[in-house]
Amino acid sequence: MAELTDKVAIVTGGASGIGAATARVLAREGAAVVVADINGAAAEAVAKEIAAAGGRATAVTVDVVEEEQIATMIATAVREFGGLDILHNNAALQTPASMSRDRAIIDMDAEHWDQIFRVNLRGYMLGAKHAIPAMLERGGGVVLNTASGTGVLGEPSRPAYGTSKAAVIGFTRNIAAQYGKQGVRSVALALGLVKTPALEAGLPPEVQEMMLTHHLTPRLADPEDIAEVVSFLASDRAYFITGCTIPVDGGFTAHTPSWADARRFHDAAMQA
Ligand SMILES: NC(=O)c1ccc[n+]([C@@H]2O[C@H](COP(=O)([O-])OP(=O)(O)OC[C@H]3O[C@@H](n4cnc5c(N)ncnc54)[C@H](O)[C@@H]3O)[C@@H](O)[C@H]2O)c1
Repeated sequence: MAELTDKVAIVTGGASGIGAATARVLAREGAAVVVADINGAAAEAVAKEIAAAGGRATAVTVDVVEEEQIATMIATAVREFGGLDILHNNAALQTPASMSRDRAIIDMDAEHWDQIFRVNLRGYMLGAKHAIPAMLERGGGVVLNTASGTGVLGEPSRPAYGTSKAAVIGFTRNIAAQYGKQGVRSVALALGLVKTPALEAGLPPEVQEMMLTHHLTPRLADPEDIAEVVSFLASDRAYFITGCTIPVDGGFTAHTPSWADARRFHDAAMQA
């Protein structure tokens, strides 16, 4: 049974990858969805696809760092669908060009650092700032923030990206602490590796294989695996989950750092 009937949702970064899958699943569950992205044409295509499948969706072109555009995005949800219940802050700067500049800390271009934080953190803050008043009009809502395992653990590269995701986790707790009593929940999702089209095209197969070695599941995630969790967290069934970070990572952050090597020794011993 559809469990988000009568709910209104916004998904930022909704034009591709995890955001597009989430927009589709929320619509399948009965929500009216605003597909918001800096890539307006691709957002429009996702919204049209949802509508063609019988769902309710509209697209908004938004650069999440621009406050006026965020305000317009929220106003669109209220005007088109009557209010707002769910914000999935999901847009992030992780193009190959951006990632290639996110390397050694001693060589870090401060402008690049600021740009990552503008999209990944300021963008989430502006989304929450303008969404929460609309949610309070309806007696509450939920702000879901896409974080990452890189916000919990260190990596040899991507220090700006990982630190911005750690900040997202802190921001999530603050939303819950400030607005929980007024019915607004907030949850961060710390993702493992998700095989989006962009990632499949950009990440060499040997790196994908290496990453799979460190997940506890037989395969890496598809965007739909994440979307299903977002849909649950957005629903009233998740009423008592707030102010926390849910690992949706195939066990990537669950094991000892030596786990993959230890498993090889274990398998060899079992075969001897
Ligand atoms: N794919 C993974 O393995 C993975 C792992 C951990 C976390 N994440 C997180 O998941 C989220 C979605 O990533 P994805 O893998 O689907 O990537 P993606 O590149 O497919 O999607 C990101 C979307 O954000 C949009 N976007 C970028 N900058 C924007 C801006 N300034 N304003 C509005 N929209 C903007 C892009 O146009 C794109 O559609 C991100 O927050 C990312 O950090 C992804």
